[in-house]
Amino acid sequence: MKSQDIRKAYLQFFESKGHLIVPSAPIVLKDDPTLMFNNSGMAQFKEYFLGNGTPKSKRIADTQKCLRVSGKHNDLEDVGFDTYHHTMFEMLGNWSFGDYFKKEALDWAWEFLTEVLKLDKDRLYVSVFEGNPAENVAFDQEAWDIWKQYVPEDRIILGNKKDNFWEMGDQGPCGPCSEIHIDLRTDEERAAVSGRSLVNADHPQVVEIWNNVFMEFNRKADGSLEKLPAQHVDTGMGFERLCMAMQNVTSNYDTDVFTPLIEKVEQITGLKYTSNEVATISEEQNKTNIAIRVVVDHVRAVAFAIADGQLPSNTGAGYVIRRILRRAIRYGFTFLNTKEPFINKLVEVLANQMGEFFPEIKAQQQLVTNVIREEEASFLRTLDQGLLLLENIITNSNEKVISGKKAFELYDTYGFPIDLTALILRERGLDLDVQAFETELQIQKERSRAASKVKAGDWQILIDDEEEEFIGYDYTEAKIKITRYRKVESAKDGEVYQLVFNMTPFYPEGGGQIGDTGVLEAANGDVIYIIDTKKENNLIMHFAKELPSNLSEIFKVIVGPDRRRKSAANHSATHLMHLGLRTILGTHVEQKGSLVNPNYLRFDFSHFSKVSDEELKLVEAFVNSRIAAQLQLKEHRNIPIQQAMEQGAMALFGEKYGDTVRMIEFGDSKELCGGIHVKNTAEIWHFKIISEGAVAAGIRRIEAITGDAVKEFFAQQENALASIKETLKNPQDTIKAVVSLQEDNAKLKKQIEQLLKEKAKNLKGELASQLQTINGIQFLAVQVDLNPEVAKDLAYELGTLGTNIFLVLATAEDDKPMLSCYISKELVALKNLNAGTIVRELGKYIQGGGGGQPFFATAGGKNVSGIKEALEKAIDFVK
Ligand code: ALA
Repeated sequence: MKSQDIRKAYLQFFESKGHLIVPSAPIVLKDDPTLMFNNSGMAQFKEYFLGNGTPKSKRIADTQKCLRVSGKHNDLEDVGFDTYHHTMFEMLGNWSFGDYFKKEALDWAWEFLTEVLKLDKDRLYVSVFEGNPAENVAFDQEAWDIWKQYVPEDRIILGNKKDNFWEMGDQGPCGPCSEIHIDLRTDEERAAVSGRSLVNADHPQVVEIWNNVFMEFNRKADGSLEKLPAQHVDTGMGFERLCMAMQNVTSNYDTDVFTPLIEKVEQITGLKYTSNEVATISEEQNKTNIAIRVVVDHVRAVAFAIADGQLPSNTGAGYVIRRILRRAIRYGFTFLNTKEPFINKLVEVLANQMGEFFPEIKAQQQLVTNVIREEEASFLRTLDQGLLLLENIITNSNEKVISGKKAFELYDTYGFPIDLTALILRERGLDLDVQAFETELQIQKERSRAASKVKAGDWQILIDDEEEEFIGYDYTEAKIKITRYRKVESAKDGEVYQLVFNMTPFYPEGGGQIGDTGVLEAANGDVIYIIDTKKENNLIMHFAKELPSNLSEIFKVIVGPDRRRKSAANHSATHLMHLGLRTILGTHVEQKGSLVNPNYLRFDFSHFSKVSDEELKLVEAFVNSRIAAQLQLKEHRNIPIQQAMEQGAMALFGEKYGDTVRMIEFGDSKELCGGIHVKNTAEIWHFKIISEGAVAAGIRRIEAITGDAVKEFFAQQENALASIKETLKNPQDTIKAVVSLQEDNAKLKKQIEQLLKEKAKNLKGELASQLQTINGIQFLAVQVDLNPEVAKDLAYELGTLGTNIFLVLATAEDDKPMLSCYISKELVALKNLNAGTIVRELGKYIQGGGGGQPFFATAGGKNVSGIKEALEKAIDFVK
């Protein structure tokens, strides 16, 4: 069976068992502060397990794009080395929310594997939770009894808490699980060693394919377990592993999920991948295989993340994506000899292969390709630079061991991979102080862990049966009850309380718009400030520094008007601008990121060149004409998504939408959106773009302001102009005055340059005659009355006089001491001299520092009077 058909068979099977089939959620989670990426099928259903929401159906099935590269489940470093772990993989899953339990789950799992797919029963092993007396959880007799109907007892394995008790995170729903493993070894191998002994033993051909979790407990903050009110089933089957079993191969990479990608890499690199069936392979070939696996695995993760709206960046989820891509580039660079961007070329193959089931990859093929190509080019430059730096470290080290601190600096500051450092050092017969590197890394990790540590207490439930209602589209005030609260501590925010109400007018951060702030007023007039509002697992949480003294009374809550009014104006302006960009630049413009706060709006979108000033003016005019037209907000709060799409509403890739959606309409602008908007575009007052620039390949960013911020902006401009006029002594025509000033300036500059050149020419002759020969080196250290740039030119000029020149030139323009050190390249090699090290040493005398390349480096400092001594000491390096 082809992988496409296996996926279909699974979904059809569970559809026939009364399951609603839903699409995969985006791989990147936008509005879940507890998780960066979808790391299992159940992540998008967390709120149902927690009881904070009601699913569309009690039975659901899907295939979910998952990424296990951060947090509790992280497989990144294994990927490539083995044949069955991935960064991105598909998890087939079926769920029961308080509906069927162990019996149906296991019966159906068995039926699907053995009757629909007809996998060999004799190759299957199952595991059952053995129980844990310390936690008061019993052996899973029920699962055992179900399995006993299908499987001989010697193929049922008891598993401990590590293998057979599944937990979503440190807290939250969890429960015993029962796994199905498959033994794909040959008959001879199976006869020689029993598969039973290889289950959960990291054997590449005896692997887990399906996990059935029986959610019955909740793990509390203090580590204890409590029973959940209802019992649920959460299952996950590794799609690529299932394909391996079905396609009679022994590596996921030999399935048709990966072979088209591998063929493309072979074609690009001219290298060959050997399938897992080849018995003996050379060490060289093994390295090639690993690198190819890394590349074809990682490109999937990166491409889908970008298609779902997560661009590579320097922080958060974007940084994780960047690191995955860099790992692939680095393996290509070292083991596949790819010195040019090539991974982007795989996107086309991926889009053709997966586009039918996951249209987002097909629709955004061009963007994904461009972003990856640009990232590749830039990291290849980093690698080149890193190689030079490393070369420098090697040349300057007198020892056989390179310090871990230096290697860490390369890794941390320049993103140069540590394994590449180690490899190069090994090739040069040098050692790396791995221990010291690890220590540095550990210190850094600790630091960031401490900074990001969040300790959440258990929810204290005050009222259990009321579902929270959001009334913020209609009201900014309400009388509410607190239904639950908890205390959360973090290094960033200190101690805060999160309060949940029975109903709330507070908008929780989402869709780019920041959360509301405001007050909570007790009957006796006491006021508590709500400092932020966020959503987590479908709960709207109001942040406060303290709790009211009596939690169970009725409170009046009021949303702070200023922040909301300004944010709403910026949000509505964002919609108008989005349409304006699509109208003026073209419909290839898609939203790739948005931030809306009271001060300004920021909008990232796909577009392949700089937006010209004229285009920006047109966009501004487009938005401002709609503000002038005083368009009334038309809010469709519960419109079927189909209907909204038919009306041309804009929806975003990587966003999770329900069957009914909220559509915001201002004239011809229609967008699916959950945010807070103005009632009439006139409230925006005026729209002004303040910047345009690039964020990534093919992604531009516009920042703009509205309302009061525009008034302030104009006032500032006016002030600036007034002070320019004043400085120019109030000329009749300001622009003319500035132009003539510029012209005078250009003329003078030219004259000065000419004079300086002559001066330098004279100096060159003069200084050349002062060169002293010491130890076969032509040496000169002297102060010159030039600016540092001209001094540099002069040093290079003098450098042409020989292949053994060593110069230190000092300048003191504007009382800023500066040393430039020039050493002939031949000398650098011959005498192991390094201008960088030398200026750093000499820089101490002028209270400064610097660096550069081995043949030319500069140091700037603070202490002019130290120049003399610095110049005197320079000779030591020659002697
Ligand atoms: N949530 C379970 C897992 O990821 C099925 O293994």
